[in-house]
Amino acid sequence: MEIDLKTPARPEDVLAFVGAILAGESNLNANLANIVAVLNQYLPRINWVGFYLLEAHSKDWVLGPFAGKPACTRISPSRGVVGKALQNRQALVVDDVREFPDHIACDPDSRAEVVVPVVVEDRVVAGLDVDSPYLKRFGPEDVTLLEAVCGQLADSWPYAHWY
Ligand code: SME
Repeated sequence: MEIDLKTPARPEDVLAFVGAILAGESNLNANLANIVAVLNQYLPRINWVGFYLLEAHSKDWVLGPFAGKPACTRISPSRGVVGKALQNRQALVVDDVREFPDHIACDPDSRAEVVVPVVVEDRVVAGLDVDSPYLKRFGPEDVTLLEAVCGQLADSWPYAHWY
């Protein structure tokens, strides 16, 4: 894409970039992949960013587009940081994953994590997960940005993936 941002980027610029991605394409997989690429490039001090998507028949959260080391492919409802955040339908920040009893370790370097739900028509259809090798990496400003990204994504969520 032609947009280029400085790193770390201003939140409003990241949101403008995501808006341009969503305005230019309707394919969900392509858009998730490019949103991951934007966040991976412009969020400092992270080691993994990606989506987990609701699988309709199992209700599991299944790995979608991501950047980082290979990750667990399937998370049962309510399991791990991902399942807990999406069950509660709200962002969950974990300052130290080793203190989170049900944390699912994918990359041993990860020390902090944030998960934000994507809510479409009152249903959680996906989660955006970001990991960092730094303790207490994620604060309110990160949650605000990631919630805004997920809000933009929800607004353009395609009917074919609306469970
Ligand atoms: N740590 C997550 C699993 C996904 S990975 O971080 C990519 C969890 O506890 O749900």
